[in-house]
Amino acid sequence: MQESANALLQIKQVTKTFPSVVALDRVDLTIGRDSILGLVGENGAGKSTLMKILGGIYPHGTYEGALYMDGRECRFQSAQDSIKAGLAFIHQELSLFPELSIAENIALPVMGTFTSRAQINAFAKKYMDMVKLNEKA
Ligand SMILES: Nc1ncnc2c1ncn2[C@@H]1O[C@H](COP(=O)(O)OP(=O)(O)OP(=O)(O)O)[C@@H](O)[C@H]1O
Ligand SMILES: [Mg+2]
Repeated sequence: MQESANALLQIKQVTKTFPSVVALDRVDLTIGRDSILGLVGENGAGKSTLMKILGGIYPHGTYEGALYMDGRECRFQSAQDSIKAGLAFIHQELSLFPELSIAENIALPVMGTFTSRAQINAFAKKYMDMVKLNEKA
């Protein structure tokens, strides 16, 4: 199914239910190109839940409704799918793993694509350089 090709991202009638609560109830949202949008709402309004759906944390099939990017439906099965589509998130609840290296923490969502530690470190270095982080990867 094709949706509006002018919109960069469209959220259509997204409903997400947890056992005790309807976190999102038929949410519609369209985001155009070159736009900045602030998502504002009271505690428990469902902001993080919506971002987790966009981020592939709650995969397709665990919510109702549909997501479209560039008019094409996205059915993310994982965070990796969402990243591949060009979506990136800094989550409210940071989940860093203190027992992993900086590079491993950065590379974690796409860890399966690497076959050596050198590749992991090189991948992480790009992002560390962007923020001028000079620690050992
Ligand atoms: N994993 C979960 N299991 C059960 N209920 C959940 C879960 N995650 C969120 N909820 C519930 O879904 C609703 C929406 O929560 P969500 O965290 O998306 O809100 P929020 O807008 O991000 O709130 P805040 O401003 O506090 O970050 C709340 O009622 C919350 O208790
Ligand atoms: Mg939140």
